[in-house]
This record gives sequence, structure tokens and C-alpha cells, in this order.
Amino acid sequence: MDNNKFVEVKNLRKVYDNGHEAIKNVSFSVKKGDLVCLLGPSGCGKTTILNILAGLLNPTSGEILFDGKSVVNVEPKDRHIGYVFQNYALYPHMTVLQNVMFPLIVGKNKKSKPEAQKIAEKYMELTQITELADQKPGNLSGGQQQRVAIARALVQEPKILLMDEPLSNLDARLRLKIREEIRSLVKSVGITTLFVTHDQEEALSIGDKIILFNDGVIQQDDLGENFYLEPNNYFVANFVGNPVIDNFKVTKTDDELQGTDFTIKIADLDESRFKRSIPNGEYLLSVRPENIVPASDGILNVKVDDVELIGRERILKFTHDDSQSRSLINLEVPVNHGDQVNLKMRLDRVFLFTPDGERVY
Ligand SMILES: Nc1ncnc2c1ncn2[C@@H]1O[C@H](COP(=O)(O)OP(=O)(O)O)[C@@H](O)[C@H]1O
Ligand SMILES: [Mg+2]
Repeated sequence: MDNNKFVEVKNLRKVYDNGHEAIKNVSFSVKKGDLVCLLGPSGCGKTTILNILAGLLNPTSGEILFDGKSVVNVEPKDRHIGYVFQNYALYPHMTVLQNVMFPLIVGKNKKSKPEAQKIAEKYMELTQITELADQKPGNLSGGQQQRVAIARALVQEPKILLMDEPLSNLDARLRLKIREEIRSLVKSVGITTLFVTHDQEEALSIGDKIILFNDGVIQQDDLGENFYLEPNNYFVANFVGNPVIDNFKVTKTDDELQGTDFTIKIADLDESRFKRSIPNGEYLLSVRPENIVPASDGILNVKVDDVELIGRERILKFTHDDSQSRSLINLEVPVNHGDQVNLKMRLDRVFLFTPDGERVY
């Protein structure tokens, strides 16, 4: 038994009947008690993976182990999994209490009604829905339905909890509140959780680690901060961050990176950050807006198109190479719409990508 590999997925592939390869040789593991976020754009394969873990869908090939044991041939009901579906899937004709008790009073290990009610009440208290016991789902708000779905997923005390975009039906304010509640709930129960989301900010805020997918392939499996500081490739750098990263076309020569109207000396880059030695040619230089700031010795002279206030900071927007770029500045920096400013890049924080997205610096 290896608690670092409480859930282990090896070389998983899923080709749907129509020939679409939704999961392409995916391997990852989840530590016992961790809350791991599966992150990625719509259609990247997140729900497919949850359904395969739950046993609702057969993989085309690959291995899945829970606590060191293969579950590929284990029935869904014997996998000890709780699943919160994206649409909650509550039973509309049943009360909240009946919904939460339901998994306990069906199947071969069913409990007596009083026993089932006692367990249900414990999880209704944990999810703060005790006072809704006699309501029908149709009378509940989205946030309340969400709690009922979570309580129902937890009553059988599963070993693994799967949640598929559980906050996507809630309004923005409630999302912030409930994501914190979910994290503290799963941590207090101690259950190993896979939480699916397409929202990078949500993943960064609650995940012990994040696995970012695109088109059925893992792009990065890492701690949240590394998605900012050390993105594996161009896709990762552009998927994570708010505001999004700025990209500039550059041509590398022996001594310089030449942008359309700026030049960076290779000697000013941090030599130790190069992943490999790279030939001269075309590259993309990417800089997070917080690392491109007004400075008297700036290398990029731009006209400010717009300045947007976002709480404690401002986003300075400018057009470069016909596309919009941004600089994140604090409130005190005196810059206004229409100003001409010099911008400096933090060269120890920029990234260089090849045209096919490989990170080389
Ligand atoms: N039953 C199916 N048959 C064929 N293709 C499917 C089926 N279900 C999902 N897909 C496709 O597989 C890909 C991954 O889908 P899904 O796992 O639902 O993505 P996500 O949850 O990340 O949005 C998508 O391109 C989707 O259109
Ligand atoms: Mg999905």
C-alpha cells in the first residue's frame, strides 16, 4: 500500500464508438486525502475520466488501481466511490432526507431505516442542510441542491469522492463561498477527492495539486504555483493566469532576441533557465502582465489604450503587433489612457516557446 498512489491511473486510453480518442495515454496518481483538481477546457476529457474511474464507462486500455488494487473489472457499486454529478441528479419526488438516505436503503448492504436516517442526519449536518430535511429539491436554490448532492455522495462513506464541475450552476459569489466549504468539508471528512473544473482560478484556490488536460493529454501535473512560475508549455502558460499572459513574436540571432520594436540581449537572460541550447530563428516570448511594468529604462515604448481598475491593481492595456497586451500595475503608478510609457520585462520571469509550443526558456 502506497498512500502517495491511493488512486493510480496508468496509460489510460478511451476511444469512443465513433472513433474519437477522448483520452490519450494518460497516467497520474492521487495521494490519500488529497483534493486534486482535474482542470481543462470543455471537451478535454474530464468527465470521461471520472466516468471511467467510477466504472460507468469502460476504458479502451490502461490500468486503474485504488489503494494498490486493480478495479478495471470491479462493478461500480463495489468501487466505494461517491459521485457528485454536474447536474446533481437529485430525485425530484423525494424529500431532502429521502434523497440523502437513498443510497443506504438500497442494494445488498442496505441498512434499517432508523440507522440510515441517523447516518443521513450526520452528513446533512456537515453540509448544513438539516433544516431542509422535508423540502423537495424543486424548492431549493442551486447552492442547497449542491449540498444535498454532496451529502448523498458521502453517506456510504466512500473512499474516493468524484465531483464533476460542482459549482458551474451557481452564481459567481456563491461559487467562491461554496468552493471553500467543499474544501473544508472534504478535508474534515479526510476523503480523497477528484474535483473537475474548467475554471483555473477555482482549481488554484482549492487544489492540493492540479492536473491540467488538453485534448485528452496531460499538459502539467503539479502544484498550483508551478503553473505560474514554471509552465511546461505554451498551452499551460496561456491557460493559467488572470489577466492572461502577453505573447510577443521574436527572432533569435546569435546575440539578441529581436521583437518588432524592441531588442533583448541574450546576455541579459538568465543562462541557467535555458532548457536546452536553441538554434537561431522564430520564437514566442511570453510574459505575465505582472512582470512587464513601467520603468524609465524600459525597452518597449507603447501608447496606453485603456486602464482598468481591478481591486488593488490596475491593468494597463496596449496594442502591440496588432494584438492587445497588458501590464499589471499598482494603484500608485500614475498612468492614464493615451499616455506614452516605457515598459520593462523581468527577464528572469519571461518564457520562450518554439512555434509548436515547447518551452525552451
Ligand atoms: N459518448 C460519446 N461518444 C463520442 N464522443 C464523446 C462521447 N462523450 C464524450 N465525447 C467526446 O469526448 C471528448 C471529451 O468529452 P468529455 O469527457 O465530456 O469532456 P469534458 O468533461 O472535459 O468537457 C469531447 O470531444 C466529447 O465530444
Ligand atoms: Mg464534462
